[in-house]
This record gives sequence, structure tokens and C-alpha cells, in this order.
Amino acid sequence: MTAANPVPRKVPKVDLDTTREKLTKLGMLHASEHVGEALAEAVKESWPPHRFLDRLLEAELTVREERRLKTSLRLSGLPTGQTLGNFDFGFQPSVERSRIETLATCAWIRAKENLLIQGPPGVGKTHLAIGLAIRAIENGFSVAFHRLEDLLAALKRDAEVGPQRLRRRKHMNVALLVIDEMGFEPMSRQDASLFFRLVSYRYGRGAIAITTNKGIADWPEMLAGDEVLATAILDRLLHRSHVLNISGRSYRLRELEQAAKSTKPR
Ligand SMILES: Nc1ncnc2c1ncn2[C@@H]1O[C@H](COP(=O)(O)OP(=O)(O)OP(=O)(O)O)[C@@H](O)[C@H]1O
Ligand SMILES: [Mg+2]
Repeated sequence: MTAANPVPRKVPKVDLDTTREKLTKLGMLHASEHVGEALAEAVKESWPPHRFLDRLLEAELTVREERRLKTSLRLSGLPTGQTLGNFDFGFQPSVERSRIETLATCAWIRAKENLLIQGPPGVGKTHLAIGLAIRAIENGFSVAFHRLEDLLAALKRDAEVGPQRLRRRKHMNVALLVIDEMGFEPMSRQDASLFFRLVSYRYGRGAIAITTNKGIADWPEMLAGDEVLATAILDRLLHRSHVLNISGRSYRLRELEQAAKSTKPR
């Protein structure tokens, strides 16, 4: 037994080892590793038994939740560093903090609704989509983040795959699919029809968040000039949806302006 993990005097070693074994069998690895310390503290502080038990279970749950968050974030493909916490609402007055806070409750994801974030370059569309997606993971939802280009490549690889296997793809069955950067390039007819298949499958099954620099009127042009397909896609996307229109300055340019100012000779 190490000094860092002492066995309290009043508990025979054999009992603690048996307890550790049982905790390990139950998959409570953190509790198994730290039960000795927890017991020592409980004896030292004269805790009532239920307090000791609660502390042990609480520590196990905390470690598990941290692990779940880390794994889900990694699997989601979300870029790191951008959160709702470090979004400067003061810089972008067209983004109402209260609206973002409402979206951050994830009620729209639970209701399998969609979110469209529109606006010119650099105004924080991707930043907000990532921040909301992180909130979704924190609330226990599964998330997949794709730039449109990568998503279309995956859809193309699956063009001939049957519905059974298609259904098992992450972008088909996660609770929230984030599609970043729609509208930079027009889609081919094949891309547009694969995109329709995706939107149509997810309709009513899971939420989609899209960031785009195009307004709704530009969607037919973005979708291979096909009015019928664009209408069918928009109909599904916008039915029970939330639209955030961001206008204002580019944060990237602000950063450049600040860098230029700080290097100007006085
Ligand atoms: N209000 C803000 N507060 C803090 N950082 C911001 C804010 N707006 C944007 N940024 C930062 O500026 C950079 C550009 O923002 P973002 O990528 O979200 O823009 P975008 O609207 O998605 O642009 P694009 O249309 O070019 O994809 C990112 O590093 C982002 O974290
Ligand atoms: Mg972006």
C-alpha cells in the first residue's frame, strides 16, 4: 500500500482489497483506486457512513462525466478553442445574447429542429455553431461537425450504399449535425441530390445546424440551379427552424486592424 493511498487502521486490509475488486468488477475504476484514501478521510473526519458513500460515488460520476465529454468532443470532429464563453457579444450587437442563451439550453436539439446561421465572412458564424455544439455535448447529445466539402465527399463515397448501412453513418444518426461553410461553392447536381437525401433522412429524426454566407434567396443557385430541389431542401430545413442573421464587422479584420495599430510607429 502506498503512502498516497493509505488503508485506514480500523479497516482490515482484506476487506478493502475485496471492496476494490468488487468496485473494479462494477467498472467503478476511480472509486476502486481511491476508496482507501476516501475511507481514511472518512475515519479521520468522523463522517457518517452515507457521507462517505456519497463522496465516493460523486467522485466516480465526476470522473466518468469528464471522460465522456472528452471522448464525445474528440469523436464529434469539432475544432477546439471556440466556445460560447469566449464569444465577444459586445463586438457583434446583431447577435442577441438572450437568443444564444435560449439556443444553448438545447431545447431545439431535443425537438429535432434546425438552426441556420447566416452572415458575411468573419462575423462569428462558425464560432457560434461550435459553441452551441459543445453545449449540446455537455447536455448529453451526440454531435458531428463537418465542413460541407468533407461531408459531400463522405456522401459521395456512400452514393451506392443501401439504406440499412447508410443509417448507421454518424452524420445520419447523431442528435446534432453541424454543417459548416455552405455556399462558398455551388454544388453539382449529384452533390445537391445527395444533400437532399441527407436532409430528407434527418428530417424529424435529428437537428441540423448550418453556417452559410448565402441568404435563402441564393439557395437555388447554390444547389446546382435546381429550384425544385432547393425548395424541397429548404422546406424540410426551415420547417421548425431557427434563423440567426448576423450582420456587422468581421472579427478577423478587427484582429488585423489591432495588429496594424500596435505595429504603427508612434
Ligand atoms: N464576437 C466574437 N468574439 C470572439 N471571437 C470571434 C467573434 N467573432 C468571430 N470571432 C473569431 O474570429 C474568427 C472568425 O470567426 P468565424 O470563423 O466564426 O467567422 P465566420 O462567420 O464563420 O466566417 P466565414 O464566413 O469566413 O466562415 C474566429 O477565430 C472566431 O473565433
Ligand atoms: Mg465559418
